[in-house]
Amino acid sequence: MALLHSCRLLAAPRLAAAASRASSWWSHVEMGPPDPIMGVTEAFKRDTNSKKMNLGVGAYRDDNGKPYVLSCVRKAEAMIASKKMDKEYLPIGGLADFTRAAAELSLGENSEAFKSGRYVTVQGISGTGSLRIGANFLQRFFKGSRDVYLPKPSWANHTSIFRDAGMQPQAYRYYDPKTCSLDFSGAMDDISKIPEKSIILLHACAHNPTGVDPRQEQWKELAATVKKRNLLVYFDMAYQGFASGDINRDAWAVRYFIEQGINIILSQSFAKNMGLYGERAGAFTVICSDVDEAKRVESQLKILIRPMYSNPPANGARIASLILNTPELRKEWLTEVKSMADRIISMRTQLVSNLKKEGSSRNWQHITDQIGMFCFTGLKPEQVERLTKEFSVYMTKDGRISVAGVTSGNVGYLAHAIHQVTK
Ligand code: LMR
Repeated sequence: MALLHSCRLLAAPRLAAAASRASSWWSHVEMGPPDPIMGVTEAFKRDTNSKKMNLGVGAYRDDNGKPYVLSCVRKAEAMIASKKMDKEYLPIGGLADFTRAAAELSLGENSEAFKSGRYVTVQGISGTGSLRIGANFLQRFFKGSRDVYLPKPSWANHTSIFRDAGMQPQAYRYYDPKTCSLDFSGAMDDISKIPEKSIILLHACAHNPTGVDPRQEQWKELAATVKKRNLLVYFDMAYQGFASGDINRDAWAVRYFIEQGINIILSQSFAKNMGLYGERAGAFTVICSDVDEAKRVESQLKILIRPMYSNPPANGARIASLILNTPELRKEWLTEVKSMADRIISMRTQLVSNLKKEGSSRNWQHITDQIGMFCFTGLKPEQVERLTKEFSVYMTKDGRISVAGVTSGNVGYLAHAIHQVTK
């Protein structure tokens, strides 16, 4: 009797839970997979191995493996704090000093488009948010096709951003897994067949995830082809300065296309080059045919932004704006961005030499040929899985590593682990 009673007691809450599940508004909602990039960090955090390495998310680390706040950022923050600024809303399009400086940084101070004012730049919520403004703008106003051609592979979030905005992600060949480098003839072949008046997305520099960029001569051919096909070019520039250490060199393709009369659209992020990840500072730019068109486009961008998030956050834009507009801070930033790029380049070299020391006879030259935050190692999914399971080395399943997570202290361990799973 007592047993029967306790069984009933146990069953009651379970029945109630089942009943409430059946009647819930959300009972049909299925468990979704973890994010392919952010999910790696979640798994890394759960690991208790003291040697663990997080080479998943692209976030810069210093040579002690610690998140790095740029000294120019600290100074800008102190200046902002001392001004005791209010917390009023920014305008819908963002902080004007910031958007102007972001446009000048990407287009170049001598750019005809910049100087004539035939462009509009609005502040966005870092790279993703700026891309989303662009995707929604295309969805509402682009008169050509819904198809957006992305390089294969591209940053995982690109597909989701365009799809969720009602566009149709398509792909063009970009990377050759056999050589771990650019499949330029494949890319040109595919691009030359893209239907006219479609959209093509290009990574301005430091291609994510492959670290493989076209050379200047190849960019020129690309520009001629997209012009001939009458494609709308959407540049994603999340790494200006971070690839080569030189902001002008990294913006070369963007500026060249505009000089060729190609009226691009552009998203920028200040997450990497200023280390402003969580501050969410970014920008979206449309190059227009004249000032009047730019004003009309701006009015519509504001109408798009207002119901999405009203107006953007102020702090990151204030920091970036102070850095870009204050000569001493800007100078310091250029030095710091170069030192981040240099540390990454040096980690690439050290990784290759440590792999050789381990006795690896494979050709790892692509590690030093590739550029920017990421290296597309060429490791197979099973090898990535072993690296994680046996060595607590975390990376995305496609074999991409964030080189920024490698330090002089752990590069030997990484080389050892990679050699063990590839020999
Ligand atoms: C990455 O690719 O790891 C970064 O761009 C961070 C992100 O948002 O995915």
